[in-house]
Amino acid sequence: MLKKTLAGIGAGALLFGLSACGGGDDGDGGDGLIVGFAQVGAESAWRTANTDSVKAAAEADDRIAELKFVDGQQEQDRQIEAVRNFITQQVDVIVLAPVVETGWTDVLQEAEDAGIPVVLADRGVEAADEDLYVTRLGSDFTEEGRKAGQWTVETFADDADGTRILELQGTTGSAPANDRKTGFFEVLDAEGLDYELVDSQSGDFTAENGKSVMETFVTTHGLDGIDLLYAHNDEMGLGAIQAIEEAGFEPGVDIQIIIVDGSAAGFQAGVDGKLNYIVECNPAFGAQLMDVVVQVEAGESVEKFTPVEEGVFTADQFEAELPNRQF
Ligand code: AHR
Repeated sequence: MLKKTLAGIGAGALLFGLSACGGGDDGDGGDGLIVGFAQVGAESAWRTANTDSVKAAAEADDRIAELKFVDGQQEQDRQIEAVRNFITQQVDVIVLAPVVETGWTDVLQEAEDAGIPVVLADRGVEAADEDLYVTRLGSDFTEEGRKAGQWTVETFADDADGTRILELQGTTGSAPANDRKTGFFEVLDAEGLDYELVDSQSGDFTAENGKSVMETFVTTHGLDGIDLLYAHNDEMGLGAIQAIEEAGFEPGVDIQIIIVDGSAAGFQAGVDGKLNYIVECNPAFGAQLMDVVVQVEAGESVEKFTPVEEGVFTADQFEAELPNRQF
């Protein structure tokens, strides 16, 4: 086996390492696989946990010789450059966590032309590009949205005045932002909930933007009469909680709050009574991803999409669950 390395390389620096990196054997030959991983960024605790999970799994897996890691810093151009560099380096498998759903056709076609299989991790790409990757392992974001929608319907079914909702969306054009929205409103509409979407803006999955968008919501609409904030991830929800408190309101009481992810910080806010429902998004699929990578490189047949296991948590479960949170 080759000496295992976990290369954290800036996208622009990748080209300098070309001569050192050739494709490895399939694991049976003893060399192990060389895998390129173009990650979204480091925008959230979820993302950091996901990166840690993938790196640790690659390091522990004798079938993987090297994981070349690139942090795309939430920029598609950086991820495209990283994938192109992985192609030039002739890695065995490319793992891509696409920051947004569109704009991948050319580079995915280049990977296919080079005979390098692409595995999507976490986020998906638009349906038109479905033939250009082998498989996706990650969350069913639409189902996450449905879970949030189901709780909303059950919680506000008797709200005679109609339910007034604010939405903090994730990164514009990303699969989780698109699908969490779709699933949520699909259930509200199907169940006939009387609601009004008062405002919906992107907070780019960060606490800073979640807070500033919530400040704008408060300025524009006030919070009197707003029933629910649906935040597409923990960071935006936590940022919004700060903004709500600074505006003199009690998060979790004056306005109910749903977050998606389930970090320890999110659960702690729940234990503190500042939010009301958590839809889990599970980042710890590194070991499963390595299995998929090996299968794909070996040409084995795999499902087009493998969802990871995820739960939901109500307020009465927050305290007991908090010690179990891994990120
Ligand atoms: O793609 C998964 C999402 O990306 C997580 O919900 C969010 O926290 C992260 O930024």
